[in-house]
Amino acid sequence: MSKLNIINVPDPLLKTISTPVARVDSDIRQMLDDMLETMYAAPGIGLAAIQVAVAKRMIVIDTSAEEDEKSPLFLVNPEVVWESEEHSVYSEGCLSVPEYYADIERPASVRVKYLDYNNEMQETLVDGLTATCVQHEIDHLDGVVFIDYLSRLKRNMIVKKVQKAQKDSVVL
Ligand code: NI
Repeated sequence: MSKLNIINVPDPLLKTISTPVARVDSDIRQMLDDMLETMYAAPGIGLAAIQVAVAKRMIVIDTSAEEDEKSPLFLVNPEVVWESEEHSVYSEGCLSVPEYYADIERPASVRVKYLDYNNEMQETLVDGLTATCVQHEIDHLDGVVFIDYLSRLKRNMIVKKVQKAQKDSVVL
């Protein structure tokens, strides 16, 4: 496994609409493993392939509590097939927007269809933090970052701060 480089806003790649994966084969599994390692190292609870500059529809998620055993989810070609009318609000962050958080409202639970690590079609109902995380990551596959839900003024301010922090930092 190897750790991958995560890209940040305003990298135009983050606006890419990712393409479906034809089949979950050993190359795709390798990529999923690398994405998971990268996400755990960051650390984060979700990562979409486009955040490591790969425009394929795949995401990895692990919303288990820190003290619990790891329980990674691999979702390839994920698609929301049902969403609840009830909404919930979470303070969201993103590995591509370091250090910024904002309250985002989304359906509280969703049913999602996807190909799993073994290329099997799955459909599962998720709620709570996992539902928010799944929707946040699927947004990435459609070129949407959570700050796109904020006002243009607020978004521009955040992007400028991320750019400045990157310019001012030294990577050793
Ligand atoms: Ni994100």
